[in-house]
Amino acid sequence: MRKIHVIGIGAGDPDQLTLQAVKAMKSTDVFFILDKGEEKDDLVRLRRELLDAHCADGTFRVVEARDPARDRKAGGADYSPAVVGWRSRRAEIYERLVADELGEDECGAFLVWGDPSLYDGTLGVLEEVLDRGAVAFSYDVVPGISSVSSLAARHRTGLNRVGRPVQITTGRRLADRGFPEGVDDVVVMLDAHQAFLQYQSSTDGGVGGVSGVGGVGGVGGVGDMGGMYVYWGAYVGTADEILVSGPLDEAAPRIEALRAEARERKGWIMDTYLLRRNLD
Ligand SMILES: C[S@@+](CC[C@H](N)C(=O)[O-])C[C@H]1O[C@@H](n2cnc3c(N)ncnc32)[C@H](O)[C@@H]1O
Repeated sequence: MRKIHVIGIGAGDPDQLTLQAVKAMKSTDVFFILDKGEEKDDLVRLRRELLDAHCADGTFRVVEARDPARDRKAGGADYSPAVVGWRSRRAEIYERLVADELGEDECGAFLVWGDPSLYDGTLGVLEEVLDRGAVAFSYDVVPGISSVSSLAARHRTGLNRVGRPVQITTGRRLADRGFPEGVDDVVVMLDAHQAFLQYQSSTDGGVGGVSGVGGVGGVGGVGDMGGMYVYWGAYVGTADEILVSGPLDEAAPRIEALRAEARERKGWIMDTYLLRRNLD
């Protein structure tokens, strides 16, 4: 039966590849590399470099395909259907790749950015391919170092404080629903709109719609948040890495400027941050 490894490759630093990942790569016949358009060159290049560094020439094939674009403008009630439709289009592509490019007794691999368990659709897509029933395979998952672990390490901080929880969420959710209840440490990913800006203490409740968003009322408005500290990182682990940390009121304008400049220069940005509510 066909086999597939879903291999976490770390979030940008080639040295973050684990020994387990290298072992899985060495046992792979066909690597499927899906490019996502704008981030294409850098992200595909890292995968190619990892193959060159760890797999002997002539022992594997690479099959590239284009990941279908997602409707990123879909919001509110349209968000989930847009993601479901996108996932199905990906399933069709993955199904074709596995059926056409992988021999019955061969092993394929998807090299997944960071860790496959964190804000990545590969596992869901493979399950959907299996559910469709047109092609059979077994798969396993090799964990990778996520951008979250990488961010915490570069800032030399823990994600949680002693005996307390930490929550990982998206910028969209932080903007729509406000700061989660019962948590003082929140890691934010996939934030195209800089949701952190609305948590500056100088921002009155009306700015950024914070006081008007359902959910925020339950935990108090921005003015009641007691001050925030931020650990932010863009392109963490890569040559373009930018790190900023400090009280949010001081760091936010700096992050905003650095982010805009980097986005303009590279054409895309990947950033993550830990937003930490000050405890008395
Ligand atoms: C689709 S998710 C993939 C997350 C990935 N599976 C992981 O474990 O890090 C993409 C988001 O991860 C974060 N991210 C990934 N790589 C990053 C990096 N090198 N530096 C900062 N953030 C990164 C950003 O928040 C980005 O929007």
